[in-house]
Amino acid sequence: MPSRSEIAYFGAGPAPLPTAALEKSAEALVNFEDSGLSLAEISHRSPTANKILADAKDALATLYDIPTDEYDVLFLHGGGTGEFSATVQNLVGAWIEKRRRKAVAELGEGKDAEVLDRVRREIEAELKVDYLVTGSWSLKASQEATRLLSAKYVNVAADSRKSNNGKFGKIPDEKEWKLTPKGTAFTYYCDNETVDGVEFPGFPKSLESTGGSEDDERIVVADMSSNFLSRKIDVRKFGVIFGGAQKNLGITGITVIIIRKSLLNLVPPPTFLHALSPVIPLSGAIPPIVFSFSTIAANNSLYNTLPIFNLYVATLVLQSLVSTWGSQKVSGQEAIADKKAALIYGALDAFPDTYHVVPNKSVRSRMNICFRIISGAQTNNEAVPDDGREKAFLAGAEKRGLLGLKGHRSVGGIRASNYNAVSEENAQKLAGYLVEFAKA
Ligand SMILES: Cc1ncc(COP(=O)(O)O)c(C=O)c1O
Repeated sequence: MPSRSEIAYFGAGPAPLPTAALEKSAEALVNFEDSGLSLAEISHRSPTANKILADAKDALATLYDIPTDEYDVLFLHGGGTGEFSATVQNLVGAWIEKRRRKAVAELGEGKDAEVLDRVRREIEAELKVDYLVTGSWSLKASQEATRLLSAKYVNVAADSRKSNNGKFGKIPDEKEWKLTPKGTAFTYYCDNETVDGVEFPGFPKSLESTGGSEDDERIVVADMSSNFLSRKIDVRKFGVIFGGAQKNLGITGITVIIIRKSLLNLVPPPTFLHALSPVIPLSGAIPPIVFSFSTIAANNSLYNTLPIFNLYVATLVLQSLVSTWGSQKVSGQEAIADKKAALIYGALDAFPDTYHVVPNKSVRSRMNICFRIISGAQTNNEAVPDDGREKAFLAGAEKRGLLGLKGHRSVGGIRASNYNAVSEENAQKLAGYLVEFAKA
């Protein structure tokens, strides 16, 4: 039976976790800090649970320099997929509430029918949610928006497949994006596409604030499930950042959200929303209560039972990043992530007759390194994967304790996920094997 130190795990999520955090969590699962109780047994409203929650928020605020007067951190259930729906419902609701308030201010109190009529017309004429589809996860998110809201209100502002032979692997030039000029409920993108190995190199220029009135501002939503805490970001550029925990943060079962507080105040009265139907499907504007951002925020993430054990694992991971990187904060982790990715891509690029990296060089993910094994020089830039060599590569990797390297079932090939808990030593081991395999 191998020990943890003999295994280098490159799974895409659930992903490896720091052994020290797992060991401490294992103790806490049986007897938390000699209390005689498991963390899985205690109340989510107990002082112990509250302290774990406060510690998690503090550590995250430190790492990302979150301006806590303007932004809130929420923990909830539902994973990244839950947020595909929740971001639509909450932010479309907020858009409607802004329009309702404006109509009330301009038409006066007591003009309910006129207000309703005006907002209905504005929804039909102006409501849009914009999606940048750059991989399988943003595609899924846009499909969920269409299911909830109907296609009429969903604008796919860019779809990478259109400029890449029907496949993901590129991000179209920003000049080609067809963003709604102003007044969208939100603009959505996935910062790192886990399946396709595509990562935005930085914050998109065309989504930068224009410095205009609030109505002109874009509310940017980013799915950071698979590159959370792997590089410095400016939180102020985003309305909502979300991520499932099971890659860089902890174990599955909790989702983290960083949200601009001003969005939490914009909740339309349910009766107003009911009256808007059939102009807009209600499913697109009213979240189930457990996904209501304002409800979760008003209850400090404890509206319903939060899995405190899962949160504890995340808290330990966050605190270990704070103590490891000190004043460098998340930039410290970013430098290591870049270094590990460079090691692995370097080994792949050194053998172009053996390896073909799937995404375009300019958008290569530092977290999910997707490549094919080929059996000779490529013709016309078309890599022909060699199934037999890929199987041999995976078998050889397994023998060396390099696990979790099989590509996602929808795209095949090889995927080395290079999350924060993958040590430099293990990235080096993989790079060494890449060289050895190519030379054999
Ligand atoms: C980028 C991204 N978004 C969303 C999801 C969906 O997350 P969940 O399975 O937690 O719903 C995943 C899952 O791997 C992901 O990688």
